[in-house]
Amino acid sequence: MSRRQVNPARQYADGGHARFSNPLHQKSRSSPFLAIGLVLVGALLLLGYSYSGSGGFGGDKALSKVEAQDALPEIGPSNNLIFLSLLLCLEAIVLGLEIMNEESREIDERDVARQLVFEEPQRFEAGKSDLCPPYLVGGDPDGGDFSCSSELQRAIPILRKAYGDSMRKVLHVGPDTCSVVSKLLKEEDTEAWGVEPFDAEDVDGNCKSLIRKGIVRVADIKFPLPYRAKSFNLVIVSDALEYLSPKYLNKTLPDLARVSIDGLVIFAGYPGKQRAKVAELSKFGKPAKLRSASWWIRYFIQSDLEENESASKKFEQTAEKRAYRPSCQIFHLNS
Ligand SMILES: *[C@@H]1O[C@H](CO)[C@@H](O)[C@H](O)[C@H]1NC(C)=O
Ligand SMILES: *[C@@H]1O[C@H](CO)[C@@H](O)[C@H](O)[C@H]1NC(C)=O
Repeated sequence: MSRRQVNPARQYADGGHARFSNPLHQKSRSSPFLAIGLVLVGALLLLGYSYSGSGGFGGDKALSKVEAQDALPEIGPSNNLIFLSLLLCLEAIVLGLEIMNEESREIDERDVARQLVFEEPQRFEAGKSDLCPPYLVGGDPDGGDFSCSSELQRAIPILRKAYGDSMRKVLHVGPDTCSVVSKLLKEEDTEAWGVEPFDAEDVDGNCKSLIRKGIVRVADIKFPLPYRAKSFNLVIVSDALEYLSPKYLNKTLPDLARVSIDGLVIFAGYPGKQRAKVAELSKFGKPAKLRSASWWIRYFIQSDLEENESASKKFEQTAEKRAYRPSCQIFHLNS
């Protein structure tokens, strides 16, 4: 096992939500701090006045006077002022504590709101609420489980037709790789490995066992994959490249090509039909950047990645014959 990704999900999740909730709370924030500031300034002014009144900062004379009186406090108007300013200071502190309290309550409320959002995504419907972050709007029209990793599992028989012997040694890269790898391993004459690019914390026993055997690895795909060149016939990626910026794509895609012999198959979500499950969002934190087919094709051309036309054609023909209509964009590239 090489590098474990240090849970990018959480970082992004918090960032995203902070941005989302800030406008709601800004109003209540500035004025109380202004109040504390004013009270403190008032207290300091009073303190300063009282000292200058009694010659507090005046040095020798005041000191000697105090010493002379055996450090007994002088009873007079300036002491009342000191008392008053101390009172004001105390009030400022109390005010500050109250605000801190309120802020922690706000954070609690935000947590509750977040849980609601993740547990009941169906409450938020397109256009219904301006408070809803854009990536929660939309959702799966069928209301079912959806991800390109599960789409890939449905597509295995068709991939098999299109790639034939090139399905002997397959590497899958993407979330839920344990279930994809398990499915591939059930195919005849297929060996499969997997790379889980995100956390593998709450996985089942079967997945733990695949990880223990080294069949599935948890690895950050922003770094070179822990495999030698040309280790697999086919590398299949799903739901993973959407989370990479072009800068990282420029490193990751050539590396995926490096470890494959016969090609690279990419399953990517369609833009507009944003279907990333909300549960998955909480796992990845950062919303997927769903790109159009023309974006991807332009990107592949720019990066000198060519389409495997024969594989594409065979895949399409088989899909048509079996009335299979993928809910993800599928690209077939040469290594
Ligand atoms: C990625 O690579 C392409 C082609 O090599 C280049 O044109 C593009 O500027 C790169 N993008 C980034 C963000 O580095
Ligand atoms: C294209 O795909 C076919 C399977 O349909 C495979 O046998 C062939 O090696 C691939 N071509 C290249 C250049 O990767």
